[in-house]
Order: sequence, then structure tokens, then C-alpha cells
Amino acid sequence: MAKPKVFVSRVIPEEGLARVREATDATVWEDELPPPRDQLLSAIAGCDGVLTLLTDRVDDEFLDRAGPQLKVVSNFAVGFDNVDVAACTRRGVPVGNTPGVLTETTADLAWALLMAAARRLVEGDRYVRDGKWKTWGPMLLMGPDVHGATIGIVGFGRIGQAVARRAKGFGMRIVYHDLQRVPKAVEAEFDATFMTLEGLLAESDFVSLHTVLSPETKGLINAERLGWMKPTAVLVNTSRGPVVDSVALVDALRNGTIAAAALDVTDPEPLPADHPLVALDNCLVVPHIASASRATRGKMAAMAAANLLAGLRGERLPTPVNPEVYG
Ligand code: DGY
Repeated sequence: MAKPKVFVSRVIPEEGLARVREATDATVWEDELPPPRDQLLSAIAGCDGVLTLLTDRVDDEFLDRAGPQLKVVSNFAVGFDNVDVAACTRRGVPVGNTPGVLTETTADLAWALLMAAARRLVEGDRYVRDGKWKTWGPMLLMGPDVHGATIGIVGFGRIGQAVARRAKGFGMRIVYHDLQRVPKAVEAEFDATFMTLEGLLAESDFVSLHTVLSPETKGLINAERLGWMKPTAVLVNTSRGPVVDSVALVDALRNGTIAAAALDVTDPEPLPADHPLVALDNCLVVPHIASASRATRGKMAAMAAANLLAGLRGERLPTPVNPEVYG
């Protein structure tokens, strides 16, 4: 029997790719850069399944080009804002993502960014490399304490809570904001207090973003809300770039509205090297690597493969984002 036809839009770790290659007739996009839209659309034509990345837009056009035989979209990420889930559901196509396995790794990176921005690690490293280190300086590269400070976590789901666990170890006061309060037992576990967004931004020394990207959260951290923050505050974003208004952030960092930002995700993404954020000493940017530990990327690959193969067999995906597709 012919194997199902599949397109994998980038090389992913062997933990998943080997299974996909073995069980399917797979075409893998081998380039480092994502397939250009026209090539993506030609590559998926007639496929039974697709394994996509957050850099691929899955919308009606994509689904039309794939064709009515498409059985599954497996997204190699926990976030799925690149997928028009409603369009997939309308066509009866289940969509899978990779929740859970990247929670701790992403929280580690959020924590690394928070620490690095607070203690000015990148600036310090540059200072040494530029040959500027002449003596021990009593006023050199001072920053805020992390321990004992207040952290405001926006989006108190799995990753937000994993960040709270780290914050607890640093003796921080933890406040959070989300669409709704988490159960009291969870608040008690982290000693976390629910606040309005306005209150959280006004009281926090560190603000860490962990919300999904949706029409409601696009531009959530805009000029007005940056204005509610302390001039000494540090903003950390490991969620999605468009949650923060980049133009407003540039102004806030330039004008001292807030002290610093540390970003794993940006808008636009990738951030061009000549973008104003890159020129700012008080802005640290890394290239969307929060889940990039070898072990975690391996687990994400295995999970994406499991979703893809289950969908091809007509079975329920292990982690569907649109379970309603099963009626
Ligand atoms: C995700 O999974 O959504 C991250 O942004 C990439 O790992």
C-alpha cells in the first residue's frame, strides 16, 4: 500500500523526523530558511498530512491548495497563532501542537533573560571585549536586585507558573494577571496574588509576558501601559512579539519610561539588525530560542510526529488544539 504523502516544512530533530520518514512518503524542506509561500503552497498540494512550523501560515489558501484529502496539520510549537484553527475545523482537519514538553525550558530562558537584563550581563561582556575594563568600579554597571523584588506575570498558565516557581526560589513577591483567576490552591502554591493589569504593571519591578497571541493580546503592552510601569522596571517577553508594540517599546526604552527589556520574541520577527531596538544598550534580544534545549526540541519533534502519524491513521491526535473537530 502506498505510504501517505507528507510535507515537513523544515528539518526537525531525528526523534521525530526518523519516525515520519519511516511511516510516510515525506518531502522535507531542507533549507535553513522557511519555504517561500509559493513553494510551500506547491509542496503541500495533494498531501495527506503536513508538519508545519510557526513560520508557516496555515489559512484557507493553504488548505485549498493542500486539497480535501488533507487529514492533519501538526504544528511543531506549543503556540499556534500561525494556524487558522477555525478554518481547519470547518474542513474537519485536526490540528496538533506540542504543549507541556517545553514549559520548563521556556521558563529557564525567561529567567535567564530576566537575570541578564537586571544584572546587565550583555553590556558587561561587551565592555570587557571592547577593552574598557580598566579597574574595579564602585559605580560600574549597577542594576536592580532580583531577589526580594516584585515580579508581575502576565498569563499565568503552565509557563507563567514555571516562572513563578523560579521567582519563589529568589524570594520574590509574585503577582499575576490573566483573563481569570487560577484556583486558590495554585495561588497558594506560588504565594501569587491576582491583580488587574494596571495594578500589576504599576507595582512590578519585573514584568514577564506569557500570554498567547490573539486579537485581544495583540499590542497589549502599548505606550499607555508602558507608561503605567515603573521607570526602574524590566520587561521580559518570551510569548509572542506582537503582544508588545515595538514602536512604543523603543520610545519607552529611549525615554526612560522603563529601564530595560529582554526579548526572545519580537515584532517583526526576525528583527532586522538595523532595527532601533537592536541599537539600544538597555534592550537584550535573542532569536526566539526559549524552547531550544536539545532535549526539549527532541521531545517537541517526537510529539509533532506522533500527532502527524495519528492524524494520518485517522486516530485522535494526542494533543489536538481543536478537539471539537471530533464532534
Ligand atoms: C512555541 O512552541 O510556541 C515556541 O514559541 C517555540 O518553541
